[in-house]
Amino acid sequence: MKNLLWLKFIIICIAVISCERQSSDNVKKNLDYSQSSLGLMGKKVYQMHCVNCHSLRGEGGAIGPSLDDLARNMDGTYIRESILEPNRLIKPGYKRDIMPTNYGKLLSEKELDALIFYITNQ
Ligand code: HEC
Repeated sequence: MKNLLWLKFIIICIAVISCERQSSDNVKKNLDYSQSSLGLMGKKVYQMHCVNCHSLRGEGGAIGPSLDDLARNMDGTYIRESILEPNRLIKPGYKRDIMPTNYGKLLSEKELDALIFYITNQ
């Protein structure tokens, strides 16, 4: 009887350990998934709103400047400000009032984060 109790205890321990291992694997998967879904969301926003005017990694229009150098060299804050207030700083050689100024209203905070993540990381 005593032996059986030990056996039960060991089985429960194994069950608990294997459950914990599984759930930490799941957490990792969820993290990877949310990183890639941020990238996917950013890509969608970019293709819907920006690709006609800007090129990035060899794809897109030429009405506005290519974003490649900026994606490599600038931090997200500058990119965010340029999106929200395009007329504050005008890139030399380009005209003001061409880039829409209503992205602050059009895009949610999450979409903006995703967009900047996509521009700087993908
Ligand atoms: C109708 C064309 C047009 C659209 C659409 C547009 N832009 Fe622009 N964008 C421009 C032009 C023209 C400039 C250069 C003038 C200026 O600096 O504001 C510019 C400037 C920028 C700059 C600053 C570039 C630099 O080197 O300083 C960033 C960043 C930028 N756009 C990002 C975006 C993003 C992201 C989107 C999509 C949400 C977008 N733009 C949509 C035309 C556009």
